[in-house]
Amino acid sequence: MATMTSLIGLINKIQRACTVLGDHGGEGLSLWEALPSVAVVGGQSSGKSSVLESVVGRDFLPRGSGIVTRRPLVLQLHKTEGGAEYAEFLHAPRKRFTDFAAVRKEIADETDRVTGKTKQISNVPIHLSIYSPNVVNLTLIDLPGLTKVAVEGQPETIVEDIENMVRSYVEKPNSIILAISPANQDIATSDAIKLAREVDPSGERTFGVLTKLDLMDKGTNAVDVLEGRQYRLQHPWVGIVNRSQADINRNVDMIIARKKEREYFETSPEYGHLAHKMGSEYLAKLLSQHLEQVIRQKIPSIISLINKTIDELNAELDRIGRPIAVDSGAQLYTILEMCRAFDKVFKEHLD
Ligand code: GDP
Ligand code: NA
Ligand code: MG
Repeated sequence: MATMTSLIGLINKIQRACTVLGDHGGEGLSLWEALPSVAVVGGQSSGKSSVLESVVGRDFLPRGSGIVTRRPLVLQLHKTEGGAEYAEFLHAPRKRFTDFAAVRKEIADETDRVTGKTKQISNVPIHLSIYSPNVVNLTLIDLPGLTKVAVEGQPETIVEDIENMVRSYVEKPNSIILAISPANQDIATSDAIKLAREVDPSGERTFGVLTKLDLMDKGTNAVDVLEGRQYRLQHPWVGIVNRSQADINRNVDMIIARKKEREYFETSPEYGHLAHKMGSEYLAKLLSQHLEQVIRQKIPSIISLINKTIDELNAELDRIGRPIAVDSGAQLYTILEMCRAFDKVFKEHLD
């Protein structure tokens, strides 16, 4: 029997193939919509990119104050059995990045290629895959932050444009929402919670993440939020301490940052009793466990969707003729093969 790891790996592959094709295959590719991914939502500078980096365990995302993330980043993590870690972009498929600082630069450059060096945003996602023995299989989506006002150089519609872009990712029933709120702001004003509540009123696919616990005013703490008394979600809240801007400027690395985060919780008089359920590593585990559970529940409906997709792809291939090298027919054919492999693994799981 195939392992859940290989199942999630297959899902990653199909998801990627389907997004490459975009709307090319019409209805058949709604398969993508059926598969879970994790989207990061929150106000600007709430710590979204920092949380994603922590979940991945590598430094590779542009971070900082102001609007840094200006295009959606669809990030697929692939767990490998060993060997060196590397990254690949869909827009540069033959190039293997082993230097993660270069990955960060490529994300920034590729953002500028589409939007110019402005504060403008674009709906066109950047696709990045990371292969590493140290990650869990997950698809994560980093999104521009929700804002309240347009700043110099941005069109007046930007506030709404960002909100609509973010909503288009999180309203999909199969999207798991990582709702990021900074602890140094009142939870009642959280943009993340506001949007999450709108698209997921029951809270079954929302994970509340509270960042910047270290930046709270002295004499205040977030125990009420973390214990679910202030805003109840179905899943437990997770508190996080990311690197501060000073840490980033001093190039404090991920390993040290995680160690400091662990120590922060373990030695905290307020949060010590919650330490085992706090921090980036715990969040990563929680997410992959949830994903596995969601996938298990979906196996029967995904199988029928795959069968429908296979039929539709076959019809499409008949229409345009069987694969002619390097054209859309060949691409569809590849997806068809993948669907079949996918179907087989799922069936083995049901046995
Ligand atoms: P994003 O705009 O939501 O993606 O936020 P970033 O991850 O880019 O972080 C914005 C700024 O907040 C950066 O300067 C981070 O160093 C800082 N930051 C994020 N999370 C924390 C945290 O938990 N503690 C502290 N002290 N700073 C944080
Ligand atoms: Na930012
Ligand atoms: Mg960001």
